[in-house]
Amino acid sequence: MYPLQNLHTFAFPAYAADFLLVSSLAELQESWHSSVKQSYYILGEGSNTVFLEDFNGCILKMAIKGIELQETEEKFILKVGAGENWHQLVEWCLAKGINGFENLALIPGTVGAAPIQNIGAYGVEVEQFIDSIEYLCLVSGTIKHIRRAECQFAYRDSIFKRALAGQFIIGSVTFSLNKHWLANASYAELRELAEPSARDIFDKVVQVRQRKLPDPKKLGNAGSFFKNPIIDKALFVQLQQRYPHIPSYPVNTEQVKVPAAWLIDTLGFKGHKIGGVMCHAQQPLVLTNDGTGSGSELVALAQKIKHAVQQSFFIELENEVQLVSNAGLVHI
Ligand code: FAD
Ligand code: EPU
Repeated sequence: MYPLQNLHTFAFPAYAADFLLVSSLAELQESWHSSVKQSYYILGEGSNTVFLEDFNGCILKMAIKGIELQETEEKFILKVGAGENWHQLVEWCLAKGINGFENLALIPGTVGAAPIQNIGAYGVEVEQFIDSIEYLCLVSGTIKHIRRAECQFAYRDSIFKRALAGQFIIGSVTFSLNKHWLANASYAELRELAEPSARDIFDKVVQVRQRKLPDPKKLGNAGSFFKNPIIDKALFVQLQQRYPHIPSYPVNTEQVKVPAAWLIDTLGFKGHKIGGVMCHAQQPLVLTNDGTGSGSELVALAQKIKHAVQQSFFIELENEVQLVSNAGLVHI
């Protein structure tokens, strides 16, 4: 049995039946049929994964390393191994004068997981820097490349969560960053920065994140537990009559995005606990484990919140996190 408590940031004390460290996509391709005979779960740094209980399968822990840098007159091209740490890549780039990733500082996890939910924060999503992605196709057994335009990137979404779900293992991501850099300080918390450098934005993002979000090393959590829901304008107008202060962000002419934190906060869930699992008192979109919590308590709290939001706002919250039970992924 392989302990998983330190391999996912929610830190429930679960075990896996089997474990394989993946340090090369080509090696995995060769050994796939002999080494992975049972159910499996591909794991980066477990910052968007919660092991609710023991997992009766094989963990494929992504450890493919390496950063290759090339330059053209206009761009930096970076091919980065899936097992590299995202924040360390952001820091590495900043130190080399390669700008662009700074708004995405301090997002936990690996480079390989970043395109899957199209990580985003402070006005930027990773899709804008992606050139292509190399993956092992588990249907054909071949190594393939997919270009950004084919990835169907959207808010916390991509083809990897849709048509390709369960069919791929990402080995590396190739990024393309313009040498001609423009600051993106459009997000509310960054607007106070006057003519910021990439370092100024990086520092501010780190500061805001450290203030708002609990550090998983000190308090188990997986960041935002739910996605911010995108709803029809007709429903939003209806809700506005009852809740005149309901916030929203424009999405398109038909839809708006509503902060799930506001919905959960308005229903009074901040600080609400079931056993060792709590709705965080500063950021209610984050659920936490005080070290004594269990998977069943987390599911109970998440279901309670979802039910209350549905009843009061007619909105179905969707999980952002991946929940893994004994047999694999589960949906609540
Ligand atoms: P894991 O949890 O290990 O895996 C996530 C999913 O990707 C799983 O389905 C897994 O099977 C799959 N996967 C991982 N690697 C591969 C691979 N190489 N090939 C195929 N499948 C793979 N996210 C944001 O977008 N913005 C934020 O601001 C943000 N803030 C966060 C703050 C905190 C405190 C925490 C704990 C999380 C936050 N997150 C945020 C979520 C998380 O950081 C991202 O989802 C991150 O990309 C997860 O990386 P990981 O390596 O930990 O993924
Ligand atoms: N709000 C409240 N009460 C609170 C906190 C927030 O009502 O206690 C409302 C406010 O209206 C606030 C709004 O919620 O303006 C948004 O809050 P915040 O800026 O903290 O961001 P968020 O929408 O909760 C999203 C991402 C984060 C990302 C930040 C910054 C999602 C699901 N979450 O959070 O990503 O870091 O914006 O860009 O989109 C993650 O994905 O794990 C994650 C942490």
